[in-house]
Amino acid sequence: MFNAQTFIEEAIAGVKAKVKPGETAIIACSGGVDSTVAAAIVKEAVGDQLTAVYVDTGYMRKNESAEVRAMYAKMGLNLIFVDASQEYYEALAGVTEPEQKRKIIGGMFIRIFEREAKKSGAKYLVQGTIAPDWIESGGELRDVIKSHHNVGGLPKDMKLELIEPLYHLYKDEVRKVARELKLEIAERQPFPGPGLAIRVMGEASPERTGIVREACHIVETEIDRAVNLGKMERPWQYFAVLLPVKTVGVHGDIRAYGYTIAVRAVESLDAMTATYSDIPHDVLERISIKITNTIGDNINRVVYDITHKPPGTVEWE
Ligand code: XMP
Repeated sequence: MFNAQTFIEEAIAGVKAKVKPGETAIIACSGGVDSTVAAAIVKEAVGDQLTAVYVDTGYMRKNESAEVRAMYAKMGLNLIFVDASQEYYEALAGVTEPEQKRKIIGGMFIRIFEREAKKSGAKYLVQGTIAPDWIESGGELRDVIKSHHNVGGLPKDMKLELIEPLYHLYKDEVRKVARELKLEIAERQPFPGPGLAIRVMGEASPERTGIVREACHIVETEIDRAVNLGKMERPWQYFAVLLPVKTVGVHGDIRAYGYTIAVRAVESLDAMTATYSDIPHDVLERISIKITNTIGDNINRVVYDITHKPPGTVEWE
């Protein structure tokens, strides 16, 4: 039986034993549960020897960067904020293959950290890697399903030593640790490292990313509203995906030929398996109407994904 308190004590002791006085560590903080919990543990162990780096990849959700900044300020973390969105958009221009997208994003992430780490003189790179990240990336002789962000992009000549305090934990255990640490993100839904780039099928251009950002915001807002009204339980994860498939529709009286948005909401414990969420029809209807009314005439169809994992994964890429 997993005991969060014991885990925290052991993890802190482990980090203390590794990072010597005078050495510094840098952490890849995305604002997600995993990286924030990892940061909290390392901060507890070595205090100001830790610096957090937040990279705005241009694939963050609406208002996310500002909210994350405020949260880390509250936690007292030393924070370096890097706006790398242009760099990312350029690197991903014309790239459509999901694994290639993931590898480019993961690789750039590590290089940006290396750049920041060099400036700061850090010796260690802390990551919020959890068990499903490496199991699904081909650890333990399993087939590669997706190269997860924290694993697939690591360059062979990486200069930083890795510290991964959550390496053996599953998602529900990370949440237990977050609650034990009284972190406000304990109940926050997971968000993948590659961000909205893997929610745009095909090329994740700034324009398409803007569409999926708005659609994700609508899905989150409407589901949060329904939860607050007591209409449904909060799903484990809920978001939108932009499909490059164009279909015919009408906007006003005029023929439209626009993209499709898929809504995905799942229940899960540890992300290894998931079932699609049973969302009330009136909630789905509000989501559909809001997406087609507010995003403009380039979206004229909204569908709901009713696939469990397996065979589907949670994200579409
Ligand atoms: P999949 O799509 O693999 O997702 O069923 C399982 C959970 O992991 C999240 N996910 C990621 N998280 N880096 C992450 O930190 C990644 O590259 C990544 N890909 C997927 C996904 O959102 C879901 O919660």
